[in-house]
Amino acid sequence: MSKTILVATEKPFAAAAVEEIKAAVAKHEGYELKLLEKYTENAQLLEAVKEADAMIIRSDKATKEVIDASDKLKVIVRAGAGYDNIDLEAATAKGVIAMNTPGQNSNAVAELAFGMMLNIARGKFNGKAGTELRKKKLGIHAYGNVGKYVAQIAKGFGMEVFAFDPFVDDAAIKADGITPISTVEELYSSCQYVSLHIPANEKTKNSIHKGLMKSMPKGGVLVNTARKEVVCEEGLKIALAERKDFKYLSDIAPVCADELVEKFGDQVLFTPKKMGAQTAEANINAGVAGVEQIVAYFENGDTTFQVNK
Ligand code: 3PG
Repeated sequence: MSKTILVATEKPFAAAAVEEIKAAVAKHEGYELKLLEKYTENAQLLEAVKEADAMIIRSDKATKEVIDASDKLKVIVRAGAGYDNIDLEAATAKGVIAMNTPGQNSNAVAELAFGMMLNIARGKFNGKAGTELRKKKLGIHAYGNVGKYVAQIAKGFGMEVFAFDPFVDDAAIKADGITPISTVEELYSSCQYVSLHIPANEKTKNSIHKGLMKSMPKGGVLVNTARKEVVCEEGLKIALAERKDFKYLSDIAPVCADELVEKFGDQVLFTPKKMGAQTAEANINAGVAGVEQIVAYFENGDTTFQVNK
């Protein structure tokens, strides 16, 4: 009997990516694809997952309820980097392997960070004189896959680039021509631009607090293409109120986004829907990687990208 790979995406992949995902599945004998796009009710996901041996998701929530809804499910692949949307404990308890596809959508996210920085540096394209990125200091908060692309692009813009990441050796950062910074406080207090790339977990939630934001140099710009939960919203409100020169740009609008837009106008910029990984290229890379990882698991027991070990 063939194995069913469910692609469940509330925010669908680009049409070109869906075609490539279909082709990737068709290449392997014994697998079939089931597509659930733009679903509006969790019940639709619960129904679809029942027949799935494997599931590919984006920011879709793989809750305990979803995981427990299927007795067939063996693998969940988060087509992307952050897996805070998967209940890892529930997956492990049910013997389900959870994986991500690191690096596959990173360039798209990095490019969006620059799109947002340019937009704000040019006054949201209001026709008045803005500023340039060249020769400005950019601090990269977490030097992972996205952080590395941000560094490369920033060098192209002629920015001075710094990075803070306690999990990466200074030598590796230096090898890329980036200056390592040893404390988070120093990164924020010395860089006019800071680009956030930390995952959301119990340690990082609300970790970007008022003090860090307020310590940024004059004209400080914090760009968040990571997760909204890592920035303390109460602290953000205070920083925006007390520092009229401070700006917050985010691809994941905070819960209090409407209030911030109303009170702080041009100091904030939010995308209407999380767009960092929304490119055809990123969708193809992550979606096809998801298929290949699932097949590699079923055929060879390959768990290279497992995140619930
Ligand atoms: C990720 O973690 O890979 C990004 O946040 C992209 O999320 P998305 O696939 O839901 O756009």
